[in-house]
Amino acid sequence: MTMVNRILNRIDLILNELFMKIYTIFVYIECKLKNIEIENNNKFYGRLKIFKSNNSMISIGHFNVFRSGKFSNLIGVNRPCIISTLSENANLKIGNNSGFSGTVINCFLEIKIGNNVMVGANTLIMDGDWHQEDNRSGVANPIIIGNNVWIGEGVKILKGVTIGENSVIGAGSIVTRNIPSNVFAAGNPCKVIRNLND
Ligand SMILES: CC(C)(COP(=O)(O)OP(=O)(O)OC[C@H]1O[C@@H](n2cnc3c(N)ncnc32)[C@H](O)[C@@H]1OP(=O)(O)O)[C@@H](O)C(=O)NCCC(=O)NCCS
Repeated sequence: MTMVNRILNRIDLILNELFMKIYTIFVYIECKLKNIEIENNNKFYGRLKIFKSNNSMISIGHFNVFRSGKFSNLIGVNRPCIISTLSENANLKIGNNSGFSGTVINCFLEIKIGNNVMVGANTLIMDGDWHQEDNRSGVANPIIIGNNVWIGEGVKILKGVTIGENSVIGAGSIVTRNIPSNVFAAGNPCKVIRNLND
């Protein structure tokens, strides 16, 4: 039985990698057509939705992994990754060596994600409140996520937040205010729990 399990795991892996290569080709073609800057060696497991508003900028570095298929990550991906710029002059920049699973990124103004960032499954990063015609909406405000940040499963990061380098955001947190570097922060609203250097 162990042998059968091994073979099934191997087939699973081969199929995942095969479909990844096909999806990746399609994403690169789409990026080319939409004038999205994308460097080499990114991997796309499952279909990513990418929407670029006219005159906005999207740039994606290298060696990032985007998991959009339901079974592309055993933690359970509830939805595809969605990357969007939603106004003219919006500027969305994703660095290098980062991972995203079912992550939705809505950029109205500016979102910068550094390098080596682990973004957990089913996460949301949005720098505006949508419904801008409704005066209860706040004003869009940039989001900056530093290098080596780890964002847990189900986290939501709202407008105007900067997360400093190396910090960890606990699963399910809602981040509404800045989080400094080198801390573990969690909760709703997300607060610093301890310094990682202590
Ligand atoms: C960030 C994390 C790794 C930290 O783990 P840890 O260092 O072992 O933290 P602890 O379990 O010791 O918790 C420390 C305190 O933070 C609190 N805490 C931990 N995670 C929390 C969360 N997600 N939300 C709110 N509070 C949390 C604990 O209740 C504890 O509080 P207390 O000291 O008052 O009892 C862990 O909390 C976490 O979120 N794990 C899930 C990571 C994840 O999503 N992985 C998959 C996607 S990449």
